[in-house]
Amino acid sequence: MRIVVVGTGYVGLVSGTCFAEMGNRVTCVDVDEDKIEALKQKRVSIFEPSLESMVAKNVERKNLFFTTNLSEAIKDAEIVFIAVGTPMGEDGSADLQYVLSVASEIGQTMQRRLVVVDKSTVPVGTGDKVKATIQVELNKRGVDLQFDVVSNPEFLKEGAAVADFMKPDRVVIGAESDYAIKKMKELYAPFTMSHERFIAMDIRSAEMTKYAANAMLATKISFMNEIANICERVGADVNNVRVGIGSDNRIGYSFIYPGCGYGGSCFPKDVKALKRVAEQNGYHAQLITAVEEVNDRQKLLVAQKIVRKYGEDLKGKTFAIWGLSFKPQTDDMREAPAIYVIKELVKRGAKIQAYDPKATHEAKNCYLKEVEVDYKESKYEALKNADAMVLLTEWKEFRSPDFTEIAKLLKEKVIFDGRNQYTAYDLEEKGFEYYRIGK
Ligand SMILES: NC(=O)c1ccc[n+]([C@@H]2O[C@H](COP(=O)([O-])OP(=O)(O)OC[C@H]3O[C@@H](n4cnc5c(N)ncnc54)[C@H](O)[C@@H]3O)[C@@H](O)[C@H]2O)c1
Repeated sequence: MRIVVVGTGYVGLVSGTCFAEMGNRVTCVDVDEDKIEALKQKRVSIFEPSLESMVAKNVERKNLFFTTNLSEAIKDAEIVFIAVGTPMGEDGSADLQYVLSVASEIGQTMQRRLVVVDKSTVPVGTGDKVKATIQVELNKRGVDLQFDVVSNPEFLKEGAAVADFMKPDRVVIGAESDYAIKKMKELYAPFTMSHERFIAMDIRSAEMTKYAANAMLATKISFMNEIANICERVGADVNNVRVGIGSDNRIGYSFIYPGCGYGGSCFPKDVKALKRVAEQNGYHAQLITAVEEVNDRQKLLVAQKIVRKYGEDLKGKTFAIWGLSFKPQTDDMREAPAIYVIKELVKRGAKIQAYDPKATHEAKNCYLKEVEVDYKESKYEALKNADAMVLLTEWKEFRSPDFTEIAKLLKEKVIFDGRNQYTAYDLEEKGFEYYRIGK
């Protein structure tokens, strides 16, 4: 099939590349000229396991093309995906300007029947807006072209995006016509060979499914963080409680790790947008509001533990931060707890020595641009002469560190663990002061 994907971020680039991998002819479009130039040279600016090699392979096979020219790209396309950002607007709702500007451009330039698929996460009713926007442009041109609007929310996880896309748990399609459903079934058939994972529904339900999924996952995290905070006060160990409840298969083990809060490009903005959409429709989403409040508090918890130990004035103290990205296996720092923790510490006069396997560039040039941080090349280098180590992202290389080396490099043997990563080690026996969430 001939496919166009608009937006070459985490979702657009991964989707386009995976469609190309299955033999489709895919053109990826972005307004960012530098990004497109780099992609033409087979260079990928984001870190996502196995993505760069897959891009290179499909560019060489002539299945995958990059351009900034949407009108040229859609000339002979059958399906166009909209995968641009839907950032948080000022009032917390999803900002649809990028999605609707792509819709306008499609209406201005399309030349044949198209299936227009919204892959960006968008509030219920956006499908109607996309349809109306395209139609307005077609009317202006005085042309009568058929098109379908489809909602196909994306469920990939950053850090495992290619694997998730190639083997999805489900493919949710919201559509109004049999033609559009048939087209989408054909496109996704190679990804769902072993068993049927195609779930067709109306557009509004598909749009809502994405928000409900993210809100459910965020709820699990905030719920467990709330339990952790109660455990801390009543002398229970949340790690035991986690195992105790996870063994119930109605609850399950996934997403019930206590920690320093969820971050990333999706949960924070999608939870907020869902709350806002409910408000706009006359409903106060009480649970969703609480999920967000618990998370906002949780992001500050590690800094509060540090202040509790050292006092409000942190001048003369140095902290070694392990991990900056919002989760392992990604360089994405959007809403990462590390941003909040580091700012709280620096505000009180502390010095920061930080190490992250992938996110240093993002931190330095964007998310902590205004904050003085001494970035180090290795995790052990970050520890030299620091007063304490602070773990904020559970990268694999942090899982089994050399505690003898850590003890040697730190001024004092103190660890603040924002991810409950070292619960299996008897750190007290090794002479460490060990602070973690929920104990
Ligand atoms: N990142 C994730 O893990 C994830 C997972 C599921 C769903 N989503 C959703 O997918 C959407 C995209 O997310 P992302 O993380 O890939 O975003 P991103 O910010 O990484 O990428 C968006 C891209 O769109 C481009 N763009 C903006 N306006 C454009 C236009 N008019 N024409 C062409 N390109 C344009 C930008 O230059 C950028 O490269 C969002 O709605 C997000 O909520 C993201």
